Amino acid sequence: MSKRTRSRRSAEWFGKKGKDGFHHRSWMKNQGLPHHLFDGRPVIGICNTWSELTPCNAHFRVLAERVKRGVYEQGGFPLEFPVMSLGETLMRPSTMLYRNLVSMDVEESVRANPLDGVVLLAGCDKTTPALLMGAASCDLPALVVSGGPMLNGRFREEQIGSGTHVWKFEAMVRAGDMSMQEFMDAEACMSRSVGHCMTMGTASTMASMAETLGMALPANAAIPAADSRRNVLAHMAGRRIVEMVEEGLTMSKILTREAFENAIRTNGAIGGSTNAVVHLLALAGRVGVDLSLDDWDALGRDVPCIVNLMPSGKYLMEDFFYAGGLPAVHRELVEAGLLHADALTANGRTLGENVADAPCWNRDVIFPLSKPFKAQGGIAVLHGNLAPQGAIIKPSAATPSLMRHRGRAVVFEDIDDYKARIDDPDLEVDETSVLVLKGCGPKGYPGFPETGNMGLPAKLLKRGVTDMVRISDARMSGTAYGTVVLHTAPEAADGGPLALVEDGDEIELDVPARRLVLHVADEVLSERRAAWRPPEAHSDRGYLRLYLDHVMQADTGADLDFLVGRSGAGVPRESH
Ligand code: FES
Repeated sequence: MSKRTRSRRSAEWFGKKGKDGFHHRSWMKNQGLPHHLFDGRPVIGICNTWSELTPCNAHFRVLAERVKRGVYEQGGFPLEFPVMSLGETLMRPSTMLYRNLVSMDVEESVRANPLDGVVLLAGCDKTTPALLMGAASCDLPALVVSGGPMLNGRFREEQIGSGTHVWKFEAMVRAGDMSMQEFMDAEACMSRSVGHCMTMGTASTMASMAETLGMALPANAAIPAADSRRNVLAHMAGRRIVEMVEEGLTMSKILTREAFENAIRTNGAIGGSTNAVVHLLALAGRVGVDLSLDDWDALGRDVPCIVNLMPSGKYLMEDFFYAGGLPAVHRELVEAGLLHADALTANGRTLGENVADAPCWNRDVIFPLSKPFKAQGGIAVLHGNLAPQGAIIKPSAATPSLMRHRGRAVVFEDIDDYKARIDDPDLEVDETSVLVLKGCGPKGYPGFPETGNMGLPAKLLKRGVTDMVRISDARMSGTAYGTVVLHTAPEAADGGPLALVEDGDEIELDVPARRLVLHVADEVLSERRAAWRPPEAHSDRGYLRLYLDHVMQADTGADLDFLVGRSGAGVPRESH
């Protein structure tokens, strides 16, 4: 055994002599693996979130095979392993409830096994942050390969986008402008190939974040899942991860404060999902980077949105790919001095080097920074007596005339209350009202669901109202839009001031001043607080119990408190 391989983690298993080495190698050989694979070469885990219950990731077996080709080609030894998958469209009550559980699955699976590096196959929304968070806590060399977006949806003559058009069509049905048959016809037209949501929703955003952070190869975010170049990317990732192991290029060398700053700015430029806020805060917590909610406002404030994609614009990820994809956006930002061009990326080059010659082929999809698509791209962080620890809003998805608004609250105590009453013809509501939804935060629902962009009352939709100010402690789908205040912290179920709002209270939203104020006298709020009782716990056992006892609030990323930080990739004791 060479000096180099002796220091390799996997050698602690496969390099051993005696009965331990026999155990570790012999049982692996039942898969038909020849003896030379155990000679000390880098062992690469392929962490697979394939599942037929996660349709966005259902093509990952093919992708894993392509990664393996690359690993073998570069002299590594690939071993694929499953972790729990998170399918956004099926899992209840919310995939977000399980993001942290999957991160634990990844962390423990990587640490417990003879791996020197890992390729993370992620696609559907939460799979990307979950895999990044878990791998970061181990801090081995790691590389994300995203599954890629679906091809553009097309319904009759119209381009339709995942999620975004579901909200639109639902509102049209409720307003009487679309039949139920037409609504169902649109289903297959929207999802017509393998891949994840093809709007700039959370999946595309998080794939873009992985690429920006330097945790994926250039072009990772936008290549359509069905495009053969997605397989090439997976192949090349397999080659590169072997080199990363040889170079000792661990995650913490890439995930620096500068990398996170680049990600926040890029999220503004692409009109990315609000969900990136909680995911990046949680990831930063795992690697010990000091990142706060207010950094999102400070760093993103002056970044315009230059990508014309749904839900903020009109194009889709396939168009984004043909226009040049994320490298073209990065180039704009680098040339304007908005990114740390010297941030190291997984291919061993800096971000600036990667995108120096990146072309843009369509200026109606990717606008120049000098003439942006929307002046304000970042996430605005709001403070005030209604959100002492902060709340957020995505100005690029909101109605400009509602960015400064005072209105009377129409309060829903939880999602069931909302569903029961929102279309009640007797509901006292008009377009100046502020819809308030409680009980949808990390603890309240439980699991911090995407209920924040609650639909408008049918009677207002029928009158042509298209947007209202909505406030909740929930998240919002990255494919959604509207003047929607999210992630209000502390949440109502944790005793935040949101719990004290009553029908008719006046609420002031002032996005330019970053204020969210409940205009109710302090004495009245004190009386309401004295009468407030926390909701009953949702469960007293299992993962849910663990989650409820330890989940943190949205402003710090909704991670479990005991998962913050790194435990590293130390080799555990022998089991026999
Ligand atoms: Fe999987 Fe949108 S449902 S990415």
